[in-house]
Amino acid sequence: MWINGGQLQSPHLNFDWIITRFLILNVFAIILFLHPVSFAEDNGGASRSSSLEAQGQCNSEQNSSNYTHTNLSAQCLIIARKVAGTQSLKDNDLIPPWANLTLFEVGQKFATRNIGYLGVSHFFALIFENFIPDIKDVLITTGSSSTRERAVKRYTATATQILLWYRNSLTNSKERTVLLESLRNVRRLHLDGAFKAQIRLKNGKYMESKRKEILQQIRYQNPPSVVFDERFWTALEKDILSSNVPKDRRKFPDWSNSTGTPISQFAQSLTQFSFAGIPVLFHRELGMSHVSLAELEGYIHMWAVLGHALGIKDEYNICMKSDFRESIKHFQNILNTYFIPAMFQIDWRVRVQLGSYLDALQQMDQVITPRLIMYRFMRDIPKIRLANIFQQLTAIERMYIALVDSLMSNNLDANRFLINQGGMFFLDVNGYHHFGSHYSSDERKSRGAFYTRENLVI
Ligand SMILES: *[C@@H]1O[C@H](CO)[C@@H](O)[C@H](O)[C@H]1NC(C)=O
Ligand SMILES: *[C@@H]1O[C@H](CO)[C@@H](O)[C@H](O)[C@H]1NC(C)=O
Ligand SMILES: *[C@@H]1O[C@H](CO)[C@@H](O)[C@H](O)[C@H]1NC(C)=O
Ligand SMILES: *[C@@H]1O[C@H](CO)[C@@H](O)[C@H](O)[C@H]1NC(C)=O
Ligand SMILES: *[C@@H]1O[C@H](CO)[C@@H](O)[C@H](O)[C@H]1NC(C)=O
Repeated sequence: MWINGGQLQSPHLNFDWIITRFLILNVFAIILFLHPVSFAEDNGGASRSSSLEAQGQCNSEQNSSNYTHTNLSAQCLIIARKVAGTQSLKDNDLIPPWANLTLFEVGQKFATRNIGYLGVSHFFALIFENFIPDIKDVLITTGSSSTRERAVKRYTATATQILLWYRNSLTNSKERTVLLESLRNVRRLHLDGAFKAQIRLKNGKYMESKRKEILQQIRYQNPPSVVFDERFWTALEKDILSSNVPKDRRKFPDWSNSTGTPISQFAQSLTQFSFAGIPVLFHRELGMSHVSLAELEGYIHMWAVLGHALGIKDEYNICMKSDFRESIKHFQNILNTYFIPAMFQIDWRVRVQLGSYLDALQQMDQVITPRLIMYRFMRDIPKIRLANIFQQLTAIERMYIALVDSLMSNNLDANRFLINQGGMFFLDVNGYHHFGSHYSSDERKSRGAFYTRENLVI
């Protein structure tokens, strides 16, 4: 029912209903996404960074022969906009020589033990990603976000693959095969996507006309798209502008006009940040208070390896800092340099992009309304209190927020079990619905649970 929507459109306030929804959804899901990225009309690198670059300050001191860490700063990361994000690696190069399988496994254990919480985290992270110029246009270029059903399928596919990476061991040969098969397929699809996006973007008017087309498609959607909900956007903008983020932290890098590369290393690194950086920086806010330093180190290393397998060059791999303290600093700087300022640039392109994403979430479960999600996300991650949005929340939405907060704030094993099971259940329901028999075992998922449209997933 939470998939088809419709049935619960006018829920009554009944206890069973609340509890059922609460268990299933609250827990949200593992809705992730590997951003394939394309470029907006205004491409290029930040001028601030260009000047750093000109002064020779953006060298990452890469020693490729024996490379174990990078010290490229967050500000300099933007130089990677010019570098293609997916390299063709040979199959035997998927797992880098510097991978520490022990540490990788520590990361995987952490991930599977907290899978429901990571689901929420990954899902929040996508809200952020939808503000970023290099990323927000991707769905548009690939033409697959124009209907909710397709967007849901895409997120379900992504979540399915990521779960395979968290769950399959590199030391057990059968599981290793599954893991590598999945990574190989995802990278191939990204390469494919980048290639097609590049062709489409040669046509300068492409983005503009594609956006118009999408607007037309969703204008009469039922239930109505949040993209056209003026009350929502006005309140959101007002809340963000009146937040206490200092003026100098609102400045976005000045994107210049140079031609970009679809799915650049920069976009890949920012995506890596969503999966690796957010849970590490915000594990407490996300309800994971039972976490050890070793676990977080393992999780970061696991994402360093996964990032490599997906084509991120070591010098731009944000999970390859020399130690944990450096990683935290780097993540914080990336957040402050790109993600926080991006929230202050809500234009109509962000509206279409972010709005479509919020629509898709609600399609997956009607309880996940745009207002409820934005309120919790803003409160917990960038720490911005959305007073005007809060005013607009219904009684049920407020009750949900309170319920989730109490469940998350208490680290009883029983609560963790519920949250993890709920997340899995949510994904499985969506997975069977969209992929049928391709969703029946890990082997089959690694080969067939992808979203392809015109042979283009992403
Ligand atoms: C890279 O290698 C050069 C010599 O080949 C060395 O001088 C330099 O310190 C190395 N840099 C790092 C970061 O290891
Ligand atoms: C790479 O560096 C590590 C420690 O920094 C060292 O133990 C190892 O022998 C080096 N490998 C090569 C191929 O130089
Ligand atoms: C990167 O490392 C090199 C060599 O270790 C050092 O000289 C350089 O200052 C570092 N750069 C940054 C931005 O920390
Ligand atoms: C791999 O990581 C573990 C756990 O941090 C550590 O004890 C071990 O020394 C590492 N192995 C290598 C080869 O670096
Ligand atoms: C980008 O290009 C437009 C027109 O092609 C020009 O007016 C604008 O000044 C350029 N912006 C930058 C930052 O170079």
